[in-house]
Amino acid sequence: MKVLGIESSCDETGLAVYDSEQGLLAHVLHSQVAVHAEYGGVVPELASRDHIRFLIPLAEDVLQQAGIDKHVLDGIAYTAGPGLIGALMSGAAVARSLAWALGIPAVEVHHMEGHLLAPLLESDPPRFPFVALLVSGGHTLLAHVAAIGEYALIGQSLDDAAGEAFDKTAKMMGLGYPGGPVLAKLAASGRSGRFQFPRPMTDRPGLDFSFSGLKTYALNTWEQNQKHNDDDQLRADIARAFEEAVVDTLSIKCRRALQQTGCKRLIVAGGVGANQRLRQQLQQLADKHQFSVSFPRLEFCTDNGAMIAFTGWLRLQAGQSQSLDIDARARWPMEELLPLTR
Ligand code: KG4
Ligand code: ZN
Repeated sequence: MKVLGIESSCDETGLAVYDSEQGLLAHVLHSQVAVHAEYGGVVPELASRDHIRFLIPLAEDVLQQAGIDKHVLDGIAYTAGPGLIGALMSGAAVARSLAWALGIPAVEVHHMEGHLLAPLLESDPPRFPFVALLVSGGHTLLAHVAAIGEYALIGQSLDDAAGEAFDKTAKMMGLGYPGGPVLAKLAASGRSGRFQFPRPMTDRPGLDFSFSGLKTYALNTWEQNQKHNDDDQLRADIARAFEEAVVDTLSIKCRRALQQTGCKRLIVAGGVGANQRLRQQLQQLADKHQFSVSFPRLEFCTDNGAMIAFTGWLRLQAGQSQSLDIDARARWPMEELLPLTR
């Protein structure tokens, strides 16, 4: 079975072809960073227009790279939510229309389920059950995953997502958009120990997170220490203290989630999963406490079409697809997802 996957929930247009026999055949990505950079964040209307501009040419590209004609496709998978509604509708319209024209089924994919299953695209994928840490720009959550579609939410951010806190902290220090990767790069030249940031909500039981206070802590540190002649080093030192605080907090909660569920396997997915400090620290923790940790390759941590094609294939081969309606949802709780059984 060959499935075309379409991701358009936010600021990247990602397409891929997944083949049940041969695995991932091709994937392409168009980033909208240049479109939104001058505004310091994603402008929803511009995002929709850019998706519309790129979806069809990218579909042609990815089919060419996969070496197949569109008529051999067996199904189309697209991100139906959560995300920016206009951006989602752009992908939904292309996916449903193409599926109708080709006479094949189209299936809705939950963006976060796509992220969650991205580590399964790698060789030696983790077995179920496992604990998933999903850390993206819009969500930070811990879930117990018994099987595909069986997700029990065990912890989540009560305010900002980890990626959002990275983005806002970067913006506040004038580092532009997208802030996460820029802040992480800067943190590498920051001095550890100059500032000590709190590890929010780690001093009490439970698996929830809160990152908005860290952002305020960073803002106060920035305002109190600015001298205007040493600001580059100050930025780097704040970036370092902030990153260490986020990574420590996530690590503490991951270990706690594994202890609480009795699971021996952890997977990490979503844009912040590309953070090198987080990857290294969780790997060290795993080695020390004898659990396994899996990550997607770096390019599949952030938004991409491969995770959508793969997740869509899993659902299509289980007989799931929807009617011709072009539909999308800005909000969509993961617990509403169906298990895979027919
Ligand atoms: O999963 P994703 O691509 O989009 C959403 O579904 O939200 O995640 C994007 C988020 C952004 O907040 C971005 O700043 C953050 O992931 N991010 C990072 C890194 N790369 C991306 N945060 C920290 N370190 C990174 N290396
Ligand atoms: Zn995402």
